[in-house]
Amino acid sequence: NLLRKQGYHIDIGPLKKAKGAHALLCVLTDTISGKVMDDIGPQLKIISNMAAGLDNIDVHEAVKRGITFANTPGVLTEAVAEHTVALMLAVSRRIVEADTFVEAKKYKGWQVGLLLGQELQGKTVGIVGYGRIGSRVAEILGKGFNMKIVYHDEHRNEIAEKNNARYVSFEDLLKLSDVVSLHVPLLETTRHMVREKELRMMKRTAYLINTSRGAVVDEKALVRVLKKNGIAGAGIDVFEHEPKVSAFLSKAKNVVLTPHIASASHEARIAMAELAAQNIIAVLGRT
Ligand code: GLV
Repeated sequence: NLLRKQGYHIDIGPLKKAKGAHALLCVLTDTISGKVMDDIGPQLKIISNMAAGLDNIDVHEAVKRGITFANTPGVLTEAVAEHTVALMLAVSRRIVEADTFVEAKKYKGWQVGLLLGQELQGKTVGIVGYGRIGSRVAEILGKGFNMKIVYHDEHRNEIAEKNNARYVSFEDLLKLSDVVSLHVPLLETTRHMVREKELRMMKRTAYLINTSRGAVVDEKALVRVLKKNGIAGAGIDVFEHEPKVSAFLSKAKNVVLTPHIASASHEARIAMAELAAQNIIAVLGRT
């Protein structure tokens, strides 16, 4: 609507309908290769992704053609951070398992040892990627749950040190953390950053939470390690081969899965759409 209000002609439909367009507003399931850019045509000025991630766009090809690309960071930080914490609680307090238990009419009365879980309070969370989302997750868990924070990132972050988050090597983070939470973008350097070797460095009582991109984790390795109880469980919103999900992960009781909905709050979606439109207006307006 924002684009329409500004007088732009809008066409909604499959990518092939974008031929001749000056701007492309796409989502993370649209793969925008150099070929797609060429098919749209040389008039294409901006690719506006309605997502924080840019891994579905071949940004090198865009740069080569002088096409601007944009994403929607910031406006979904809160939604993703809250979802990350929700997955952590769901897996550590066995919420989905408990819901299934009640639904199956297995609840016959209070029992002292029924569905025991682990508390987050006082434990250590390892934040991998201390950007907007990672740092907000750290803040919620530090302030709200009194968790100790360790983080790993390409860069040390001065604000992090002020927030009592301690910089450690990736290896130390894996060894120290009771919960490992992934918040890196998918890049060639972060693809399969968590393989079997890394998972085996984690405590057997620890949880892995992934709300970043599926391919940051070697999903087959995760299945192997979970099968051998190498870690306590996982909370996963993103998958290596979306929308495919490994059969083992879908069935495992100690794994809570959501279908790539970490940013799916009404608030975030509206703000993402507006920002994606504003990014287009900003670029077309200056030409
Ligand atoms: C969602 O995964 C996003 O990148 O916005």
